[in-house]
Amino acid sequence: MPAHTTTQSNMRDRIVTAIILACFALITIAMVSCGKAESGGGKKAQQPTATATTTAATDSASQHTSRIERGKYLVTVGACNDCHTPLKMGPKGPERDMEKMLAGHPEGLALPAPPKVDGPWGMMFTAMTGTAYAGPWGITYSMNLTPDTATGLGNWSEQTFLLALKEGKHFGGSRPIMPPMPWEMYKNMTDEDLKAIFAYLKSIPAVKNKVPEYMPPAGPMASK
Ligand code: HEC
Repeated sequence: MPAHTTTQSNMRDRIVTAIILACFALITIAMVSCGKAESGGGKKAQQPTATATTTAATDSASQHTSRIERGKYLVTVGACNDCHTPLKMGPKGPERDMEKMLAGHPEGLALPAPPKVDGPWGMMFTAMTGTAYAGPWGITYSMNLTPDTATGLGNWSEQTFLLALKEGKHFGGSRPIMPPMPWEMYKNMTDEDLKAIFAYLKSIPAVKNKVPEYMPPAGPMASK
């Protein structure tokens, strides 16, 4: 074969290859854009059906975990620790005693009688632990919110918890819940959020800590 013919046929081969490649490229582009257009419809809709059986089992477990996470978030921003986790004295001053996280007023910490309510600063006295309060309503102690069965929320049902926070009734049904427990604010949470808080409280370490009983007002405070 003469040299120039070989070059020509080489050229022709290259042009043919280039045309074929261009065609492939066009077909690919067309397929990709078709796929995009379809993705809102048929193609996507089939995916959940295909994976439904495999994810069903893990769904309930992960839903439970995310409910606890949500509860933790709500307890944090809802400032429950502010009153329900006692303060202890640390090197830099009072700090939250996280070993007693949400365990309420420390058992055995007996307090003397509160000062008399007098003048514009007399709405409330708070103990050094931040967990006992004296005011016109008497003396209240923040409750143990850990899942200890004898002294905390261990035996509470979700329903009791919801009733307590929505209706402001001690144990969901007896005497009114007294200040400064801000249940009147918390009652505005959705049932789902309150259930998430309860799920989180059930998941934290149980602390055995018997909080003293509420003391109704006596003497001059009673008439205020
Ligand atoms: C400003 C202080 C304060 C804050 C903040 C607070 N609590 Fe309380 N809580 C109290 C006190 C005090 C009591 C005890 C009231 C009583 O004995 O009547 C109490 C009682 C409770 C009780 C027991 C109700 C019952 O049946 O007697 C629950 C449950 C509770 N709090 C949950 C919470 C949760 C959850 C949060 C955060 C979302 C929270 N508290 C935030 C002070 C507070």
